[in-house]
Amino acid sequence: MITSVVNVRAGNYDVKIGHDLIQDVGKLTAAVHAPCRIGIITDDNVAPLYLSAVKASLTYAGFEPHSLVLPHGEHTKSMEYYSRLMETAAGWGLRRTDMLAALGGGVIGDLTGFAAATYMRGIDYIQIPTTLLAAIDSSVGGKTAIDLLAGKNLCGAFHQPGLVVCDIGTFSTLPDEVLSDGAAEAVKYGIIRDAALFRSLLGGKENFDADYTVKRCVEIKADIVGRDEFDHGERKLLNYGHTIGHSVEKLSGYSITHGHAVAVGMYVIARAACAAGLCSPDVARDTEKALLSWDLPTSCEWDYTALAKAAVHDKKIEGEKISLLIPKRIGEAYIFDIPVGKLTDFIGAGEKS
Ligand code: NAD
Ligand code: GLY
Repeated sequence: MITSVVNVRAGNYDVKIGHDLIQDVGKLTAAVHAPCRIGIITDDNVAPLYLSAVKASLTYAGFEPHSLVLPHGEHTKSMEYYSRLMETAAGWGLRRTDMLAALGGGVIGDLTGFAAATYMRGIDYIQIPTTLLAAIDSSVGGKTAIDLLAGKNLCGAFHQPGLVVCDIGTFSTLPDEVLSDGAAEAVKYGIIRDAALFRSLLGGKENFDADYTVKRCVEIKADIVGRDEFDHGERKLLNYGHTIGHSVEKLSGYSITHGHAVAVGMYVIARAACAAGLCSPDVARDTEKALLSWDLPTSCEWDYTALAKAAVHDKKIEGEKISLLIPKRIGEAYIFDIPVGKLTDFIGAGEKS
């Protein structure tokens, strides 16, 4: 088992990465929290696969598990299911010393984390990611949120988990396109921080080394979050491709998944940055190669005007500027603020190039 430690203001917590860890969830949780009631939140795809093993492990370790199975999909990251989760937690009689556990992908992780941040003004929770995306990104770092009708992740909180248990074996049941969603975020880490990681992903699913990828991405995330927990500076790099990605998700009514949308967003920005002379010309070409090797999209049905318009409603806008992340070369990126009014022209130049 590999352990990656995340250092954040609320304390340190471990990200345990390995195989067959689902059956050790109880033991690992007992090492960081006294046995208590624990509300396991999961979705209807994950529950039949892993819920009983997690419950059995927690029961064996002395916990009193309860569970709530929600529908899968982005629409579950909503006020409706947040409200259902909170009322259910109250119905279980959870107190401030009790916990929640997120068993699933990023949707369940973000929703459960936000519920934990706000139930009785904040209780502890653990993350048990079962998608590649959740393992390498959403389960680590304490960003929790639900979506509002006005946009994605607009209602949220920073609330770090007490533990992350990542069982790489759970990826074996993922549909290919869900694995690819995670690969998009892994490509992101490669572009912003690690050219070797990027190159390792060029072989697609057939040559995928999940152990190496999860370990390396979590190391990068832990490193960045340890220095900028609250997203004031360096952490913005982790949003590479997300400004346009969020536009794609929103314009599609969330029928395009997060990872696929981020893939489009990364390629749009890479082309725009190349057209503006802000990065080496091979960045867009290499990005395209990596995304296509995972059957990820590089374009969408909305043109640059629609994408830019949707993006200006995104929460990352501060004052009159929008923060974009620009890859200087594969393995290095920087934060680039442009006036909101120039976004359309900036990405338009990339689309026309
Ligand atoms: P997801 O949670 O919707 O999961 C994708 C699908 O896979 C779902 O249908 C789910 O039921 C299914 N599934 C999950 N685990 C499975 C398994 N082991 N076997 C079979 N099926 C399984 O999507 P996701 O890609 O994991 O997460 C996307 C979400 O994460 C978005 O809402 C995004 O905004 C959020 N996110 C958050 C952060 C953060 O820092 N908090 C970072 C990146 C993304
Ligand atoms: N996924 C962006 C972040 O955690 O900051």
